[in-house]
Amino acid sequence: MSDRTGALDGQVVLVTGGARGQGRSHAVAAAEAGASIALLDVCADNRTTTYPLAGPKDLAETEELVRAVGADVFSVEVDVSDGPATLDAVARVRERFGRIDVLVANAGIHGGGSIQDASLDVWSGVIGTNLSGVFHSMRAVSPIMIEQNYGRIVATASNQGRMAVPGSVPYVASKWGVIGLVKAAALDLAQFGITVNAVAPGNTSTPMVHNDALYKALRPDLESPSWADVEPVLAPHHVQPVTLLRPEEITAAVMFLIGPSTPHITGSVIDVNAGSAARYTA
Ligand SMILES: NC(=O)c1ccc[n+]([C@@H]2O[C@H](COP(=O)([O-])OP(=O)(O)OC[C@H]3O[C@@H](n4cnc5c(N)ncnc54)[C@H](O)[C@@H]3O)[C@@H](O)[C@H]2O)c1
Repeated sequence: MSDRTGALDGQVVLVTGGARGQGRSHAVAAAEAGASIALLDVCADNRTTTYPLAGPKDLAETEELVRAVGADVFSVEVDVSDGPATLDAVARVRERFGRIDVLVANAGIHGGGSIQDASLDVWSGVIGTNLSGVFHSMRAVSPIMIEQNYGRIVATASNQGRMAVPGSVPYVASKWGVIGLVKAAALDLAQFGITVNAVAPGNTSTPMVHNDALYKALRPDLESPSWADVEPVLAPHHVQPVTLLRPEEITAAVMFLIGPSTPHITGSVIDVNAGSAARYTA
């Protein structure tokens, strides 16, 4: 074992959707801060998404990165939209490490559609992963954290959980729902030394953005749009002149919320969205 010491020394951090993207970044940062890491990821495509999700190779790469900083890592391939399977996966993590200090409920998929045309399948798929998946993960870790009288839960919402955009009914609804879920759970868990917060990222450079289907949706006028074609469409989403955030910028907010200096921040949302927050009414 390593001799790392840090803000999360000796803690167990569970990251859903940890195989790639933001989840990978959160896992590696928590490992660098001294935690042992549990990764939950579906590692299979979802029939309601138009882009590939992570695969076993991605999960293995995250494991490698976590091990490279000297941390212990344990992974379970599970679909968080499946309640019983998620309860079982979390029980396996508890069995492996003996405790779970932190849940980063990050797994999510993008699926759009307007209220007139959003497919029922996409609605169920997006709500299933983005909202029910967060509920299942929270429900699974809560009894463990209550027993420990300690826990930190951070769920990943979105800029679209703060401000609706046209043609994105399933995703917007799922992410507003995550914030409601966070606030309700924060009330229920406050007396047990557990904080529950959300981060709300703006557009972030991960495979959820960099894929042919999204590029095509943003530039339907072009046969095979490139990033250079898509970038001007996405740029106005942010106020600061940066089109995409780095996953590490979202990780910084997660690390703040799960670290030792924020025991009394709960029920809150941290916007990491290059100034889009300045457009909200409150
Ligand atoms: N990238 C962005 O611009 C952006 C902006 C705001 C919010 N978000 C949110 O950030 C979170 C992380 O997304 P990302 O940008 O890293 O995208 P990503 O697609 O790279 O990563 C998502 C991960 O979640 C996993 N996953 C998906 N469905 C799952 C399920 N049912 N069970 C278990 N694992 C599942 C995927 O396999 C993948 O590893 C998501 O909740 C997403 O909605 C992303």
